[in-house]
Amino acid sequence: MTTLLRIDSSARAEGSRSRQLGDALEARWIARTPGAGVVRRDLAADPVPHIDAGTIAGFFTPADQRDAALREAVALSDRLIGEIEAADALLITTPMYNFGPPSALKAWIDHVVRIHRTVAYDGATFRGLVTGRPAFVAIAYGAASYKPGGMLAPLDFLKPYLDQLLRFIGFTQVEIITAEATNGAEPVAAAELDAALEAIARLPSLAA
Ligand SMILES: Cc1cc2nc3c(=O)[nH]c(=O)nc-3n(C[C@H](O)[C@H](O)[C@H](O)COP(=O)(O)O)c2cc1C
Repeated sequence: MTTLLRIDSSARAEGSRSRQLGDALEARWIARTPGAGVVRRDLAADPVPHIDAGTIAGFFTPADQRDAALREAVALSDRLIGEIEAADALLITTPMYNFGPPSALKAWIDHVVRIHRTVAYDGATFRGLVTGRPAFVAIAYGAASYKPGGMLAPLDFLKPYLDQLLRFIGFTQVEIITAEATNGAEPVAAAELDAALEAIARLPSLAA
């Protein structure tokens, strides 16, 4: 099976624009991928806990020196990273909450961006270890004008963050689709959604 790992993070199960864009990306990916299968992790329905002191101690203890408690402390991180490593492509859907990611997504990020597992450091430079697969990201913004030159562009701490973060852990192909103004007047919101769906249909990497 060729697997897409889909991570959803909007607190809304119904009426979520980021999930709607994710559905379109997922459908496109399935259509062009023989033997496609999707593994889902819904961070709203099934939240991952924040990392704690034990998790951090486990991260920084070499695997062969971890006792049972430290092994348990990194077990969820191991599982979440394993899901990424087992996937042929990653899809993240996310709203902007307070100019950044929802805390549900940030909690997942803190488990999967991990020294020695998804990123290596040789004392001078970092090297991402999750290589050889694409990442797709769908973002919904309630307001408008986050595009380059827009009034709120300097406050977009979500799109550049996810782009750089995924590249940091090794993804070289990161495709980000956005829809703004989801809370705006209906014609504007609808036009934004249509443009995002068209952008998905035109993605060269998802061409049939
Ligand atoms: C707690 C919260 C914070 C939000 N913060 C922002 C924000 O900083 N900027 C913005 O443009 N929209 C903001 N919004 C609006 C959401 O980004 C918008 O409703 C988006 O469509 C939500 O994603 P969803 O449709 O996938 O649920 C916020 C919404 C919530 C619930």
